[in-house]
Amino acid sequence: MSNFKNRLKIIKDENRYRERISLYSAQDTIVRVEGKSVTNFASNNYLSLANNKSLKGIFKNFIEKYGIGSGSSPLISGYNKEYKKLELYISKLLGFESTLITNSGYLANVGLLNAISERETTVFQDRLNHNSIIESSRLSRTNLIRYKHLDYEDLLSKITKAKSATKIIYTDSVFSMTGEKADIVALSNIAKKTKSLLFVDDAHGFGVLRLDKKRFPSCVSNINLKKVKIDAYIATFGKAIGTHGAFISGSKDIIELLIQKSKPYIYSTALPPAIIATTLESIKMIKRDLSLITNLTDNIRYFQEYSSKKKLKVNISDTAIQTLKIGNPKSVINICKKAMKQGIFIQGIRYPTVPKDNDLIRINLCSGHTKKQIQSLIEFLIKIQE
Ligand SMILES: Cc1ncc(COP(=O)(O)O)c(C=O)c1O
Repeated sequence: MSNFKNRLKIIKDENRYRERISLYSAQDTIVRVEGKSVTNFASNNYLSLANNKSLKGIFKNFIEKYGIGSGSSPLISGYNKEYKKLELYISKLLGFESTLITNSGYLANVGLLNAISERETTVFQDRLNHNSIIESSRLSRTNLIRYKHLDYEDLLSKITKAKSATKIIYTDSVFSMTGEKADIVALSNIAKKTKSLLFVDDAHGFGVLRLDKKRFPSCVSNINLKKVKIDAYIATFGKAIGTHGAFISGSKDIIELLIQKSKPYIYSTALPPAIIATTLESIKMIKRDLSLITNLTDNIRYFQEYSSKKKLKVNISDTAIQTLKIGNPKSVINICKKAMKQGIFIQGIRYPTVPKDNDLIRINLCSGHTKKQIQSLIEFLIKIQE
């Protein structure tokens, strides 16, 4: 007999039960939930483009041209010229030889290791890497070694001892649960020194990290890729870009191998061409309209200033992800419910997504937030800390 009920009871008893919240409106800074409008601090729609009027118009036109579905996987008949256009554009934008569009960031990570792993592969991962990266190692049955969060001495000591023929360092660029940034140059130096490959998932940096004002925002925007070695760069379109899908950039050979061997790529229906074509227009809009990124940067700065003025005990980061450590799952649930009643939508992140006793509230700042909305959020968080 199945023990599903028992298993669900255990999850509930441990306050790990996940419930979905239905939106009754478009994804934006204000959304309709449970019959009322609330300010949304729980979305990765960092540049507030998911409901952008002009992109919606462009999307409609592309749907007229290409229809709704792609009808097939990319190697059968689902690959459209819009895919090729976007792949070429991204390679040039970031400075990689080649790019492959995938159906999601999760599938990009899983499909990447699926294609390139051999029996003698060991993957070294930061302890706080996103689940899609951890799972990519498990599903591809590589040896998985996790190093202490952002501790590159620990990484070096572990990687030096490893005997595998292929060694891969795999990291988030911006950690999705803390907003901290990895040091890509330090990791590249370790990769060179230990003859390893370096894979970087920039899901929360692409379109967001303005490290060099002249280049497209990303974790590689202040990096010379001729000197800093990144063997695979992964990013998603479902966050700052406001659309859907993801991509992997790297050398021509690695991308060609993915096309030949990545099962999630070969055996899954391609995304609708209209989404891909709109994604290109969204990226161009981010390049053109600098107010999108400056508004976000201003909001991050304002959040930092106002929360330190009000002495809010928040783990300040200089990215769009801010966190408040609570340390127990029940309190996290109660805080989120209380916030919703007051018109503020925030999400708690609980074990097992974060380590035990590190349950937290995650706040995602977007370019569309107003200073007043950020103020109200901080006032609320101060009250619950009192
Ligand atoms: C670091 C990281 N990689 C990958 C993903 C998955 O991306 P997608 O939502 O496109 O599957 C996420 C999603 O939150 C993420 O944070």
